[in-house]
Amino acid sequence: MPLPPSPVAAADQAPAEAVAPLIRGTTVLRALTDTDGALSLPELERATGLARATLDRLTGTLERMGYLRMDGRTPVLAPPLMELGNAYLEGLRLPDLLGPYARELAGELNESVSLAVADGAGVRFIHQTTRRRALSVSFRVGDLLPVERCGPGPLVAAGWHEADWERWRRRRAADPDGVGFPALPPGDAARVPAEAEFIAWARQAGEQGWALDDQLIEPGLVALSLPVHAPDGTLACVASLVSHTSRHSAEDLRERLLPTVRETVAAMERRLREAPHPEPAPPGAHRASWISASKQELGQGFVGSLARGLGVLTAFGPGRESLPLTAVAQATGQARATARRALITLTHLGYVTSEAGTFRLTPRVLALGYAPLSDLRLPQIAQPHLTTLTERVHDSTSLAVLDGDEVRYTARVAARRIMSVDVTVGTRLPAHATSTGRVLLGALPAADRARHLARAHLTSLTPHTVTGREELAAVLDQVAASGYALVDQELEEGLRSIAVPVHDRTGRAVAAVNVALHSGRRTTREIVADVLPELRATADAITADLRVAGRFSHVQEA
Ligand code: PHB
Repeated sequence: MPLPPSPVAAADQAPAEAVAPLIRGTTVLRALTDTDGALSLPELERATGLARATLDRLTGTLERMGYLRMDGRTPVLAPPLMELGNAYLEGLRLPDLLGPYARELAGELNESVSLAVADGAGVRFIHQTTRRRALSVSFRVGDLLPVERCGPGPLVAAGWHEADWERWRRRRAADPDGVGFPALPPGDAARVPAEAEFIAWARQAGEQGWALDDQLIEPGLVALSLPVHAPDGTLACVASLVSHTSRHSAEDLRERLLPTVRETVAAMERRLREAPHPEPAPPGAHRASWISASKQELGQGFVGSLARGLGVLTAFGPGRESLPLTAVAQATGQARATARRALITLTHLGYVTSEAGTFRLTPRVLALGYAPLSDLRLPQIAQPHLTTLTERVHDSTSLAVLDGDEVRYTARVAARRIMSVDVTVGTRLPAHATSTGRVLLGALPAADRARHLARAHLTSLTPHTVTGREELAAVLDQVAASGYALVDQELEEGLRSIAVPVHDRTGRAVAAVNVALHSGRRTTREIVADVLPELRATADAITADLRVAGRFSHVQEA
């Protein structure tokens, strides 16, 4: 298992003013990231070298911030943590400006396209449009690869100075097996270029303006990479077209597809030249009062300096990518001296760089949980929220998506009762007679809804089932207006359920959450009075997670 650098060592070399809890807290987040998001407390103790009592306070603080949750006794990274990486990516702007071009190229060639930036002696992905089929690994936004093992690497190294080469040599010597690169598939050392080979590759790539990865990272995986230049001529990022040898050989990529990729890169560079500088957006949530309230409530269990230190990262964003100390202090509501110590610490750890009195985030911010979290699908995001809801209402809860005339359950938490409804993940039920189905039908654009109503089989399942098309249309209008659907024994005698929608960033209802219960448990009036507010709070929490998680990558709905 890859171990992050020991926090003890990091603290030893840290500047005198560094904030030790911030160093330790980021070490915990790194350890969880490198093991794909979850690690038991004893494993975390071993991986970080931190005492259990310290770990408990750090994980308690991160849990309070929403950055991790406890799955039983195991800390697990949680989607709100992605706000840190989002602050970096929003300030960088490249995914927003160039993502549409990457998607278009991927669609045209039906292959994957990625964007990556230099990060020390590595290359970190900042965008992925994945069209990947079987037989190959897929890297995620936030994943880091060694420069010598991927197409973008030699293009980055082409601009290196001697000090950069020296740093690369030190890294190779210290970590010959690539333990510091958890995204690297377990590999075959034979494919790792020797030093002289990589130097020659970098020189050639710089001269010709492209580089080919012919299965360096994984058998079968081939990539053609091109530099994308910023208006000042520096390297902004590297665009890669990624394929598989079953469709294209590496040579084939270069001979047949290079001109197309070149055109896209030229369009990307034009976009970078022409994009107006964004108006500075207001900084994120003002945290100072929240931090003191948490301290009041949790006392010793809340490490305020960790919360304040991580809060500094969220001061950055679109139009706020480069900030002087004063602006960071203002945005976070912190005293200058406090913000300054946090910035010194974050600079020491490599998450921030400074130049001429202004600070900016580095791609390393993405190492704080981004890659494993960007992999989560909607059911996984919803699951812990459903668990909380079931604990609160003591009835079964589910997440469902619309699938033709039916709803399909994608997540489910059953309450322990004898009279529970027999639904499991994968169960399909007729949309017209279920609360989740009605919420999702009610949210469809008018034309889609009309088409759906015209062709659906409105089967009668109990004497109460609404089967008239006009009557159902009126029910759906009512559902859309009220924002919830309550179905009383139309699917099954003795079964009531209530559902509300979950929205994506664009406001589209992508799924519905419901609570289902036996009619003897609560009257319909009680359901609306007691269950609906809890259900709405759950849907809001899932929607909020989805907003953060879906900012730069597509969250699979099922
Ligand atoms: C990728 O985007 O997954 C990728 C890009 C370049 C490589 C390998 C993989 O060389």
